[in-house]
Amino acid sequence: MPMIDPALPVPEHIAVIMDGNGRWAKSRGKARNEGHREGAKSVEAIIESCGAIGVKYLTLYAFSSENWKRPRSEVDGLMGLLTHFLKLKTSSLIENNVRLKVIGAVEMLPESSLSQLNKTIEATAENDGLTLYVALSYGSREEIVKAVRTLMQKSADGEITPDELTVENFGDYLYTADCPDPDLLIRTSGEFRISNFLLWQISYSEIYITDVYWPDFRRSHLEEAIADYQRRHRRYGGL
Ligand code: IPE
Ligand code: IPE
Ligand code: MG
Repeated sequence: MPMIDPALPVPEHIAVIMDGNGRWAKSRGKARNEGHREGAKSVEAIIESCGAIGVKYLTLYAFSSENWKRPRSEVDGLMGLLTHFLKLKTSSLIENNVRLKVIGAVEMLPESSLSQLNKTIEATAENDGLTLYVALSYGSREEIVKAVRTLMQKSADGEITPDELTVENFGDYLYTADCPDPDLLIRTSGEFRISNFLLWQISYSEIYITDVYWPDFRRSHLEEAIADYQRRHRRYGGL
């Protein structure tokens, strides 16, 4: 198995499209929500591994703005799982020096999930190890339109002129304003698409796609992705 090379840098920011929970469950004759429950174990393992490996930022795509289209029972199951996971794991996040942040239209979340989320965010706010962004009710197009709306309002109020907007400062209007762009984007379960995730931010991210379903994705798979990343030559359009 390819190993992480200690002489080479690891990605500062890893973003993950955690896909394949449903197929994992189906392949075992289980209900989809069981796949999500098993996926939560991978979440725990990957958070811990990123901390140990020295990754500074981890962004996990947990629920997209499009996922609201799923059956009510699945959406409720996911929201319940989120609340349960945060309640159960806040103390271990603190122990592991993880700081939790959220990106997305969180106002869409049920009140119980939102209040637990805010509790965990507050409880981990002083931690300075891994910063964990969880993308919830997140859609990149919505994020960009929201940013443009803010800018149009600022412009109407005379607070910014059109030529003051640049490629460098546009990111300040996105949910990810405080976070460097992902170096590595991982998608599990073999789909070759972005599904409305971080469209602006992944302009120059290295992409790694594995057939492994998210509930099976553990530290060894993460290390394989990082080892693959270390073999890439990032050119940013240069030579
Ligand atoms: C990813 O697994 C989890 C969420 C999108 C919430 P899926 O539920 O999309 O699993 P598949 O793609 O149906 O296998
Ligand atoms: C992307 O997975 C969203 C998350 C992982 C939260 P989906 O399963 O929703 O994506 P599509 O529908 O295959 O594009
Ligand atoms: Mg899917």
